[in-house]
Amino acid sequence: MTPQAAILQPIPDHARHLFFDLKPAADPRVALRALAAACDGLTAVLGIGVRVAETLRTDVAGLRGFPELPDARPAIPATQHALWLWLRGDEPGDLLLLGRQLQTLIAPAFTVVQAIDSFRHRDSRDLTGYEDGTENPKDAAAVEAAIAQGLGAGIDGSSFAAVQQWLHDLSTYDALPRVEQDNCFGRERDSNEELDDAPESAHVKRTAQEDFEPEAFVVRRSMPWMAGADAGLMCLAFGKSFDAYEAQLRRMTGHDDGISDALFTFTRPLTGGYYWCPPQDAAGIDLQALGL
Ligand code: HEM
Repeated sequence: MTPQAAILQPIPDHARHLFFDLKPAADPRVALRALAAACDGLTAVLGIGVRVAETLRTDVAGLRGFPELPDARPAIPATQHALWLWLRGDEPGDLLLLGRQLQTLIAPAFTVVQAIDSFRHRDSRDLTGYEDGTENPKDAAAVEAAIAQGLGAGIDGSSFAAVQQWLHDLSTYDALPRVEQDNCFGRERDSNEELDDAPESAHVKRTAQEDFEPEAFVVRRSMPWMAGADAGLMCLAFGKSFDAYEAQLRRMTGHDDGISDALFTFTRPLTGGYYWCPPQDAAGIDLQALGL
């Protein structure tokens, strides 16, 4: 069993995120088997929400819903869905058509509730101009961070994806003096150098992966999105469990020390979901952990 290949690949030029809910009283088994055979793990990555496991009366170790964080300011919405598809490629029209095919395939059991298109901006930059993904673990360290291992057949090779759509207020951001913009991230924008004197609220201080106990490494594949006049970042992070991401999110929202991430000056999440990405083999995605 290997991970769905895209998880360990650099971000593509374009990606489309599709979110599905289960139709009332639907039995998802036939649709899931068809979808597992149709997803190659590279152009189409499949993520399963906890509701699917519950409906099938199975327990996938580590799979849970997106957390409620009632004390977080600003609010961190949980918008958990039953399925997530991450479609990747170099041509957005092809992704739309691929999505429609997969949507039709599973239509007896699942209904699409949200679609978000995202794209690579320059050399993997956020729309604010800051390079995103610099501190991602690489090679063996990426596998160690993002892929479940030693947990048994069906789980080994899988990954746990956190998906959040963040909406930027680019006018507020543009109005900040440059030094404050850098302080929000804790990096100098053009050189991407870390600031020696970054404030505790700086995003890279909040999320410094080696500063957690246990260390909280994830592999991020975030990409900007835009729709009409709105724009922001589709945050996407893969872990060997959801724990590292959740620890980072809690620290960003002041749960550890009362200090909120300075990114909240100009951006906030609109959605949030957790999805388990099963392993794959030559026949497609392996759903044995769901009893399929
Ligand atoms: C709109 C929201 C966000 C933006 C614009 C953003 C952008 C960035 C940028 C520019 C960096 C510095 C370069 C890098 O190492 O990639 C960074 C680092 C990082 N971000 Fe975010 N990020 C956002 C949300 C999040 C969220 C929600 C999490 C996790 C809950 C997160 C986790 C991390 C981690 C782990 C690092 C690396 C920290 C380190 O070890 O140095 N980010 N982010």
